[in-house]
Amino acid sequence: MSASASVLNARAGFPAAVMCLWIRFVLFLCPLYWCALPPPCDSEIYCYGDVLKQVQMAKLFDDDKYFVDMKLKSAPDIILTAFHNLTHGDPNSVPPAVLRDFLHKYFEEPGKEFEPWSPSDWHDKPQFLTGIADAELRSWAEKLHQLWKSLGRKEKSRASSQRESSPGKGVMHCLTALPALEKEYLFWMQNRSVAVEVNGIKHVLNRFDVQVGLPRPESYSDDVELAEGLTQDAAERLWKELHSGAESGWDFSSRWFVDGLGNNNGSLRDTRTTLLIPTDLNALLCRNERTLAHFYRTLGNEPEATRYDKAASARQEAIEAVLWDEEMGVWLDYSLVTNTSHPAFYPTNLAPIWAGCYSQPSMGQKAVHYLQTSGGLAFPNGVPTSLVDSGQQWDYPNAWPPLQHILIQGLSSLPSQEARELGFDLAQRWIRTNWLTYVKYEAMFEKYDVNGDGKPGGGGEYEVQLGFGWTNGVALQLLSQYGDRLTSGSSGNGFTSCLSISVSVALLCSAQTLFL
Ligand SMILES: *[C@@H]1O[C@H](CO)[C@@H](O)[C@H](O)[C@H]1NC(C)=O
Ligand SMILES: *[C@@H]1O[C@H](CO)[C@@H](O)[C@H](O)[C@H]1NC(C)=O
Ligand SMILES: *[C@@H]1O[C@H](CO)[C@@H](O)[C@H](O)[C@H]1NC(C)=O
Ligand SMILES: *[C@@H]1O[C@H](CO)[C@@H](O)[C@H](O)[C@H]1NC(C)=O
Repeated sequence: MSASASVLNARAGFPAAVMCLWIRFVLFLCPLYWCALPPPCDSEIYCYGDVLKQVQMAKLFDDDKYFVDMKLKSAPDIILTAFHNLTHGDPNSVPPAVLRDFLHKYFEEPGKEFEPWSPSDWHDKPQFLTGIADAELRSWAEKLHQLWKSLGRKEKSRASSQRESSPGKGVMHCLTALPALEKEYLFWMQNRSVAVEVNGIKHVLNRFDVQVGLPRPESYSDDVELAEGLTQDAAERLWKELHSGAESGWDFSSRWFVDGLGNNNGSLRDTRTTLLIPTDLNALLCRNERTLAHFYRTLGNEPEATRYDKAASARQEAIEAVLWDEEMGVWLDYSLVTNTSHPAFYPTNLAPIWAGCYSQPSMGQKAVHYLQTSGGLAFPNGVPTSLVDSGQQWDYPNAWPPLQHILIQGLSSLPSQEARELGFDLAQRWIRTNWLTYVKYEAMFEKYDVNGDGKPGGGGEYEVQLGFGWTNGVALQLLSQYGDRLTSGSSGNGFTSCLSISVSVALLCSAQTLFL
């Protein structure tokens, strides 16, 4: 039996407090055992324990995610026994070569659990392509659309139960989607809500809050090193905050940095995700509540529809009471330390517009004015994630597709011509960036740099990823929405834009001949 297994087995026989003390003692020798908080997940191989610790701290791979993506070749208890045999009970320094052999024998290389998959409802010439006026953009869109076939994957073991076509319309769609939507919603309400009192009124909103005080398995060695020199309590708290940052998707960002005084500054070690009530999470949940109400209404379940309508109204009120900042004219993340807003710029400050979660049309107008004076529009390639150059990937100078999408869709939903033109302008900047970078690298990237002549973003914990699902999705959506106006033109050249206009007109004419 391995050392860590005996720790776990011992738990049943000890009173909790003694158990804690005992684990503290073990901690002293091996400072990565959890006490106050549960482990990130159940597996003694991937989530906590000696195998994870040894493999990750030996840094056998460029990225700690590599190991947690390796599938087991044998049953977990066999692997744990084999590891114990290997270490002769002293798990502290297995030589790298021995670890490698062990991994080779008991683990698959990552990626083996998936096989290529091509969606059965895929067509090679979908209708929206014909609406793209610029010939270059149109042939690029066609190539992006082809990526469905090369990027599509399905899990091998689930091959037979794989649902292959997209869900049907209307009632069928609601029936299929409802259980998952509801489950997700319940999770956030049961495990991630927080009451905030403003002007004597209590409101319930949501935050990111993962109760796990261990390093992230997929970034194990980084998290251990970041916590060096901290007390055990402070280290566990930092890991919990890093998990919560990862839950937000913004891993990592100066947005979550909160220093000792509650100010929104500091460094990665000051990550305090759980102390903030985020605009985007609450906008998303408001939109979910509306969607759930809509689905229940479609299914004829009026009581449930009304219940979700009420939840959405209560949330809208809470968002306006807690997150709306009348002076700045926009929604802002709210700090549970200072009980005030954090005034920094993020595209997510406008997320409630995208969600349609506000009561006064003037709020939309004010938020557009805020955006225009925020400094966030000063860049040729898109809107940056923040204006802080922290070296983290969810900060300046990186721009991310979902944030462009939320902004542009929000702006295009507003009644004002000015707001909708700004939406188009941002779509044009983003498409041009994606396109120029594609021409240079023949690839789509997960994020881009707001400066320069089309380049991928950087920073953070890993190399920039190419591929890339959400980039392709946002680009195709924008090409579909604004295809009649977007251009690939590398700016300013009157002759080429004239030429491209006449080419566009010609294309439009031929498209009409073909498709009318
Ligand atoms: C571990 O060692 C024991 C005793 O030497 C042996 O019987 C067993 O097969 C080994 N298990 C594994 C998985 O290597
Ligand atoms: C809330 O968290 C607990 C503990 O992790 C979990 O068992 C429960 O399923 C969660 N609730 C929902 C609705 O997901
Ligand atoms: C931290 O933020 C506060 C308030 O925004 C500011 O007054 C202070 O100068 C900042 N400190 C540092 C070190 O940047
Ligand atoms: C913020 O509000 C909470 C709860 O209402 C309160 O306990 C806390 O003292 C307040 N903090 C500050 C700095 O005002």
